[in-house]
Amino acid sequence: MNDRLAQLRADFARELDTVRAEADVTGLRDRWVGRKSGLLTAEMKNLGKLPPEERKTAGAQLNELKDQIEAALEKLQRDFAAVREAEQLVKERIDVTLPGRHIAAGHLHPLTLLRERIEDIFVSMGYEIEDGPEIETSFYNFAALNIPANHPARSPQDTFYLAGEHGKTLSLRSQTSTMQIHAMQKRRPPLRVAAPGRVFRRDTPDATHNPMFYQVEGLLVDRGITLGDLKGTVEEFVRRLFGPDTKTRFRPSYFPFVEPGAEIDYTCFKCHGSGCRVCKQSGWIEMGGSGMVHPNVLRGVDIDPEVYSGFAFGLGLDRLCALMYGLDDIRLLYENDVRFLEQFT
Ligand code: FA5
Repeated sequence: MNDRLAQLRADFARELDTVRAEADVTGLRDRWVGRKSGLLTAEMKNLGKLPPEERKTAGAQLNELKDQIEAALEKLQRDFAAVREAEQLVKERIDVTLPGRHIAAGHLHPLTLLRERIEDIFVSMGYEIEDGPEIETSFYNFAALNIPANHPARSPQDTFYLAGEHGKTLSLRSQTSTMQIHAMQKRRPPLRVAAPGRVFRRDTPDATHNPMFYQVEGLLVDRGITLGDLKGTVEEFVRRLFGPDTKTRFRPSYFPFVEPGAEIDYTCFKCHGSGCRVCKQSGWIEMGGSGMVHPNVLRGVDIDPEVYSGFAFGLGLDRLCALMYGLDDIRLLYENDVRFLEQFT
């Protein structure tokens, strides 16, 4: 039996030497200590054929050899696993001292930044921000705004009408003042609404004109609202937008949906009124139109002008944005040239 054991031990040692891959270990385990056809398992089964006096020692020796074989296989398996782990660590090594990769983060468009600033000011003054349709019926675009049937603003030279069968009645809004009507139809006074959005006009593009541009409309309706409230609100608005020293002036003007109407100018944010390139030496910059909501407009949305009055003002964002960022052409805002846009954060 001792010879047999020596033989088995030597055979196993030789076979162990030939193992090159982790998968070989499993093969070797099956071959030697596998439960069904393992060599040692077979030897164990043969113990019964030995004379009883030898059986006990032989059994113990075989068990010892089996333990040794299993221990050797386990060690080999652990060695393979350790090598695998070491390789993995090398592969996944991170050099924390390397400089970081630059991530090109985008940012908001200058017009968006300006619109958000203006929205924040309106909200801080108690206004609700409202969004509305860019395509409107002639009711919202004209009739409800007290624009008479023969008014030039209605002509296809000024307004973009839709093609096809709806072309007679549907057009792109040419001012955010259409939102006055939506706001008053939805709410009853007292109300304060600000509506930013895109508007469209058949203007030939140049440094200060685009066929599409942004406006923001402010509307307030309540009992006893006067021109003084309009002036006070606009003054506070421009102070919050351009700084506490900014002044405003009102020049009489005509818009069909207000009476009286006025153009608003504010003192140049650059030179504060002394005259510079931004304000073309005048000290003033044009902001937009304003006025007291016309009684016909109030009546049209079932608000009694004997009880309520209101004011509205609207400003164009593109020219303002260009002035604030020192651009001499508003078309630059729509060219989407990243080298240009990158300058603004
Ligand atoms: C209006 O659009 C009136 N809705 C303003 C208003 C509101 C009056 C409420 C009374 C009560 P106006 O047509 O002046 O007004 O345009 C207002 C602003 O839009 C202008 O000051 C200017 O900044 C801007 N704007 C007008 N046309 C263009 C254009 N083609 N491209 C860029 N900006 C323009």
